[in-house]
Amino acid sequence: MLSRLEPSARPGTVYLVGAGPGSADLITVRGLKLLQSADVVAHDALIHAELLAEISPAAERVFVGKRGYCVGSTRQETIHELLARHAREGRSVVRLKCGDPCVFGRGGEEAEYLAEQGIPFEIVPGVTTALGACAAANIPLTHREAGQVVAFVTGHFDPDSAECKLDWAALAGLSNLVIYMGLRHVERITAKLAAAGMPGDTPAAVIENATLPGMRTIDGELATIAGLARAAGVQAPAIIVIGPAVRFRDRLLQLAELAHTSN
Ligand SMILES: C[S@@+](CC[C@H](N)C(=O)[O-])C[C@H]1O[C@@H](n2cnc3c(N)ncnc32)[C@H](O)[C@@H]1O
Repeated sequence: MLSRLEPSARPGTVYLVGAGPGSADLITVRGLKLLQSADVVAHDALIHAELLAEISPAAERVFVGKRGYCVGSTRQETIHELLARHAREGRSVVRLKCGDPCVFGRGGEEAEYLAEQGIPFEIVPGVTTALGACAAANIPLTHREAGQVVAFVTGHFDPDSAECKLDWAALAGLSNLVIYMGLRHVERITAKLAAAGMPGDTPAAVIENATLPGMRTIDGELATIAGLARAAGVQAPAIIVIGPAVRFRDRLLQLAELAHTSN
């Protein structure tokens, strides 16, 4: 009999699965089925406990993240090796990531590594936070009266550091921006956009714990949103939305309220 630790003749498949933006029922049907049948699940932080409860008791569960961020504190190379090792033992591996695995999630790097190692993989999409959070906050991101562009932006890097490659002038000219991992630098991000010509009264919102019970949405404008978010004590995970689409939130909330009371 083949020991679980011996390499298998045929490697198992690694599924890079998006868990969705927060709420457990926002994973795809395919993602859920794979999660329930996996031999090994390696997951980040920010995965809902109800989703983790779907993992088979017989499966091995490995935590490779840290609380507060989707990207793990576990070294990326360690995650690569872990996925490959289990697959080589012939096991079906789910790599569960919040949102979509390839939107600021390093799913592409994991897929590249697996391909180089000759290990089969499949990317299973998830609802990325920008879409989940805006839907939950009633922000119609591509409303026809709100411009023709949406950009997903990483706010991870200090805007004043060389690591930050963002073209602020280009971003300031786009209609709607959704900024991931930007809470820490929200003052400088908004200042950079203002300095690059984005009007201070551009609608803006910060959405905390999107799609989760503790979800909060802070409304403001480019010039005020950083101060409002700090005053409200917003914590990670949070996403920043800037652009005319945010203005439609009020209207949708009012219409939804009307529809509710008239029924
Ligand atoms: C490393 S990125 C991962 C993004 C993920 N792959 C996706 O597609 O949504 C982590 C960032 O996503 C955002 N995020 C994730 N879950 C969130 C939630 N429930 N509410 C608000 N923002 C969230 C935050 O900006 C957080 O810093």
